Amino acid sequence: MHKARVVTVLTYHARSKHAPDRYAAGPGTRDWDAQPKAFRDWDDAQRSALPRDIVVSDISWGDLPAQRPALTLNPDNLGSLLRLCVGLTAWKEYGGARWSLRAHPSSGNLHPTETWLIAAGVAGMEDGLYHYHNLYHGLERRAWGGDPQAAGAWLGFSSIHWREAWKYGERAFRYCQLDMGHVLAAVSYAAALHGWKPRLLLQDSADIARALGIDRVEDFAGVEAEEAEVIVALHATDAALPTDWQRWAGKPGLLDNHPLYQWPVIEEVAHATRGAPPPATVPPVSIPARTEVIRAAQVILNRRSAQAFDGASVMPHSVFTRMLASLLPGESPVWNLWPNMPRVHPVLMVHRVEGIAPGLYVLPRTASAKESLQAAFREAFTWQPADAGLPLFQLIAAKAGKTARTLSCHQDIAERCAVTFMMVAEFAAPIAANPAAYRHLHWEAGMLGHVITLEAEAAGWRGTGIGCFFDDADHEVLGLQGDQFQVIYHYAVGMALDDARISTLPAYE
Ligand SMILES: Cc1cc2nc3c(=O)[nH]c(=O)nc-3n(C[C@H](O)[C@H](O)[C@H](O)COP(=O)(O)O)c2cc1C
Repeated sequence: MHKARVVTVLTYHARSKHAPDRYAAGPGTRDWDAQPKAFRDWDDAQRSALPRDIVVSDISWGDLPAQRPALTLNPDNLGSLLRLCVGLTAWKEYGGARWSLRAHPSSGNLHPTETWLIAAGVAGMEDGLYHYHNLYHGLERRAWGGDPQAAGAWLGFSSIHWREAWKYGERAFRYCQLDMGHVLAAVSYAAALHGWKPRLLLQDSADIARALGIDRVEDFAGVEAEEAEVIVALHATDAALPTDWQRWAGKPGLLDNHPLYQWPVIEEVAHATRGAPPPATVPPVSIPARTEVIRAAQVILNRRSAQAFDGASVMPHSVFTRMLASLLPGESPVWNLWPNMPRVHPVLMVHRVEGIAPGLYVLPRTASAKESLQAAFREAFTWQPADAGLPLFQLIAAKAGKTARTLSCHQDIAERCAVTFMMVAEFAAPIAANPAAYRHLHWEAGMLGHVITLEAEAAGWRGTGIGCFFDDADHEVLGLQGDQFQVIYHYAVGMALDDARISTLPAYE
């Protein structure tokens, strides 16, 4: 059983690779007018608006690490938190088309992640399970009851694979998982601003599905299924998660009434990777003090993915090192929500950074990873220490812009940015030990991307996730053989060029 799950994961990973001469299986044609709905309505569920004010708007990005008293769990503060992690941040308009953006990026802006709130003993709220409706910034009441002894608030997350699979075919499961990582990182920052110390529950997928009611087959008959991902306790509470719902309401709306393709391999890999997140292995640490004066909420709400970079600006050395330092354990609130030994390590193609020669670099996030990466990478790599304060090593000096572009499915952003990242995951061993690690490695890569993006944004730069890359061509460049390590995400960071033709409208106001 366990072995079969491992095989399913490795087979899925191999067949969902892109190569220059063979992209992973996806739809041959796309009817853009038939895109699945971006927002799921729960028909016949009672809907209530959440307060829209950001209650922590005066905190600077530099003060983010400061310990602050936990705000009360109430609708004002929960509304503020939800806006800062999964809420809409803007509407965009161009040539008759209109689309919304959210606090976290998403592959193809398709947003497969659904958010749930479980409330118990929260002032001003009835206990129960609620679906968060991003479009209205409101809650839809899904279940009543729970445990009268429990006290706390939990966020639950599920993925609707079809939203991504519709466009990307078999590779879509990976994108759902990378998105989940971005969401978890977004929750970490938003919670830190409210003085909350979020924690992942070590619940198994089946328990999560039960707690969120997404295992209720009869409710989902004829509509797209939701896959359980994870539950986050918003503030340190030992109370057991209420799951004993007594009454249910609402039916999930259909997102796509004319699905053209089926990608059964996605449900197979989803099934094979069910499980609980890994238990904490690293004690929480306090994050070093910072000096940036820009408001943290402004950084979060203004975050955008660059659609084009200027191909010229040189990133200041201080911005570069600050960004890399935040990727190390204990240097961002994200790593307190994910208190595990790092298993994903950035390789950088540096194009334009002050004081750093163009070339290929690696930032092993643990000492043991440095050793194993050194043994696995090309022998010709020099491993020259490249920074006094960071575990950053130059592998080879080279102008890698064209290579970065080719490896990233020929996307210009990978060449015209200042740095292109490849996220190298410890792969075969964690998955052999626990196939659910396939999800967790993608979450970790998504979290790294999110930290890069927010750090860049705070300094006036911008990041963009790159889910489209040629897997084995990356491995060839690095000299990686077999699947001890696999690259699972790319990221670009640089000076963005804005498209003046696109107009921006407020999210809710
Ligand atoms: C997992 C993931 C993969 C992505 N892949 C690409 C990509 O290959 N190319 C690209 O231009 N943008 C990519 N993006 C950026 C999305 O297109 C962008 O997040 C989305 O359009 C929403 O815009 P926003 O980030 O400005 O809110 C990716 C984002 C994520 C999270």
